[in-house]
Parts: sequence; structure tokens; C-alpha cells
Amino acid sequence: MTAAQAQGAIEPFDAIDVIRAKRDGGAVPEAALRWMVDAYTRGYVSDAQMASFAMAIFQRGMERDEIRVLTDAMIASGERMSFASLGKRTVDKHSTGGVGDKITLPLAPLVASFGVAVPQLSGRGLGHTGGTLDKLESIPGWRAALSNEEMFAQMQGDVGAVICAAGSGLAPADKKLYALRDVTGTVEAIPLIASSIMSKKIAEGTDALVLDVKFGSGAFMQDIDRARELARTMVALGTDSGVATTALLTDMNVPLGLAIGNANEVRESVEILAGGGPSDVRELTIALAREMLALAGQPDADVEAALDDGRAMDTWKAMIRAQDGDPDAALPTARETHQVLAPTDGIVTRMDALPFGVAAWRLGAGRARAQDPVIFEAGIDLHAKPGDRVVAGQPLFTLSAADDARFGRALDALEGSWAIGDEAPVTGPIVRERITA
Ligand code: URA
Repeated sequence: MTAAQAQGAIEPFDAIDVIRAKRDGGAVPEAALRWMVDAYTRGYVSDAQMASFAMAIFQRGMERDEIRVLTDAMIASGERMSFASLGKRTVDKHSTGGVGDKITLPLAPLVASFGVAVPQLSGRGLGHTGGTLDKLESIPGWRAALSNEEMFAQMQGDVGAVICAAGSGLAPADKKLYALRDVTGTVEAIPLIASSIMSKKIAEGTDALVLDVKFGSGAFMQDIDRARELARTMVALGTDSGVATTALLTDMNVPLGLAIGNANEVRESVEILAGGGPSDVRELTIALAREMLALAGQPDADVEAALDDGRAMDTWKAMIRAQDGDPDAALPTARETHQVLAPTDGIVTRMDALPFGVAAWRLGAGRARAQDPVIFEAGIDLHAKPGDRVVAGQPLFTLSAADDARFGRALDALEGSWAIGDEAPVTGPIVRERITA
């Protein structure tokens, strides 16, 4: 309870009026909306009232100005960082999450190898989408928790890039509201998703931001039209707050790359940094790096050369060492594996991202509850992707786990999720659209 509450200070609004205004389809006035977020953060507005308000937003939507005020109120609930003293341009990337999405790992050092600072404040996975920190923690010694001083020193010096845990001081109102939305069926509202993501990114203090907004079976937004609306809303929010923001709409119908898990995704990222790796991962890494460098004032940067000549790899190694990791250490490998073989000759026509994400999660690569550990060596390695020709008996993918009892439920999740046929599937480019202010 705050001092004002203890003294019986009078609140300027009633939550019920704010809820009714949105429930009946009106726009909530700025002062009332700011108060609602602040009063919820202080515990004056109850979870029941906020859940009802979130549901009203889910049903009725919000105008652009309301979303801006909501985002701003969530930023105001916590600390706001500034990288102004770094003397370098800062550019960040945010992905709405997908299956096999390890792009942050090669992308941050790649962009930093051009002298741009990359503050990549990341999270852990929950459910079928993996978390960047979980993947990196499979590197022996690597440390996710950095003080603000350590983070600044790493960005200022030769490394330039930092991938670390976001502190709890950024947008605490969002933390509370997101947990509430998670259990009240109100996660999927575009104004709430956009304000949640952008409040944290704007509070972080980056100069520029590139959003990877995914659509498809393994994404948060299955439908490209909804993904586009989310991307436009977030680009507008960033722009209105002075953060140069662009978004790419990218395909998440098929797992990204060949590795789904933690340690295996680090291995694949290192292949990309060595100039190789699966073509879709390389293509998306390059596309996002170009966008980030363009926003940082280097539109003509030769991104491919930095992957091929070892500059990005040098920055990766320095970044891992700066956080006490050993980039040359062996990564964990699984005790138990199970191969799934092609039943017939033909062409792989389908591999749905979501079931592969769920299967990797059931193998132990992800967590069901926030407090659960992840098993670094658990996951799935694909040996073929849609469009590839296979012969009967050839391995299609390998499941890895610490305990073979996990294979049954993972295989259940994969039932019907892939197919082999006669005709090559029609596949488009991974980057479908670019959204700018
Ligand atoms: N990620 C967030 O941070 N917030 C959302 O609402 C959804 C995804």
C-alpha cells in the first residue's frame, strides 16, 4: 500500500466506469486509462477488474491513440533505460516467437560486427516456443544475468552485442497484466500484445527496432492478416515513441532450420556464423541484419561477407566469453535418441511447425511451468524438409531426450504432422512482407 492510500487518498476514477466504457465500445479517456494501469500495478484495481477490462479490450479493440496511452502507462510503471551515453547507435530485434527460431544467436553478433550496439534483452521459453536464454545456457559457463554496468561495458567495448535476461524493472505493469491474460483467455488481443511487447522494447531505450512478426501454424498469429495488423500496430507504437521501427512478416508454417531444441539450436547457429547452415536460417538472419543495419545508418553493409569471412564468428566468440561461456566447449548431447524413418519413397510435402514444437517441448526442450528446468540436449533434428526427395527407410528426423520414456508422447504430438507425396509443395519465400511507418 502506498503512503497516499494509507492516508486514505481519494482515487480519481472508478474501475467499474473504465470497464463499462470499454465494454460498451467507447474509447477510454487518456487520464482514466493511465490511472487504470497505475492503480492495477499498485494493487488498488483487482485482478478480477483488470481481467474484465482486458476481456472488454479483446472484444471491442482499441483506437491507435488508446494503444499508445496504454503502452506509455506500462512504460511509466517501471524504469526506463537509456543508451545515449554509449556513443553508438543501438538496434534491437524482437521476434513474436516460433519453432526452431534461433535467429537472435547469429544475428546479434553479426550486426554488432558492423560497429552497432545490439542490446538483446531476452526471455525464457514457456510452452512450445523456445527461449533464447535457455538455448544459450546450454553453453558451459554462459551467464544470462548481467548488471546494467556489465551490459553497458559489453556494448561499449569491442564486443558490441549483449544477449541477457531482461531485468524485472522494465514495465512491471506488463508483467502483472501478461500473467493475468495468460489465465483469462485474453492473450490474443492485438492491442494487448502490441502494448505488451512494445512497452518493454521502448523502456529498454533502443534507438531502433526490427520486428520479426511470424504467421503460420507455429506462430502466435496463425493468420497473415492478423500478423500484418499486429505488425502495423507495433510499428506505429515504436514510431510514435521515437524508436525507428520496421517489421518483417515471416513464414512459420514449417520449423525454422533443421534443429529444434536448445543445444542443437546453438550448434546450428554456429554453422550460420561459420558461413554455412540451413538456407532458411541464413536467409532470415541476413534479411533481419540488413533491416537492422539500415535503421542504424548502414543500408549498404555487406552482411553476407561478415558471415562468410569470420567477422561475425569472432564477435560471437567474444560475446560468449564476455558472459563467462566457453564458445569452444562441447555442447551437451542426448543419451537417448529415436529415429523416424520415411515409410515410402517420395517428396516431403508437409511438416507442421506447431506439432514439432510441442514434441520438442514434451521431450524436455521446453518447460510447462515457469520454474521447471529445460533439458539442453533434448529436441528434434530434422534430416529432410518439405520439398526434399526421400527414399523409404531414410531417416526423416531424430528425437533426443534424457530418458526414453519421453518418446511416446512426443511421437503422439507428431502424429499426422508430416506427409510424403508425389508432388513438391508450393513454398514461398520466408520473408513475405515488409512493414514500415
Ligand atoms: N509476448 C509478450 O511479451 N507479450 C504478449 O502479449 C505476447 C507475446
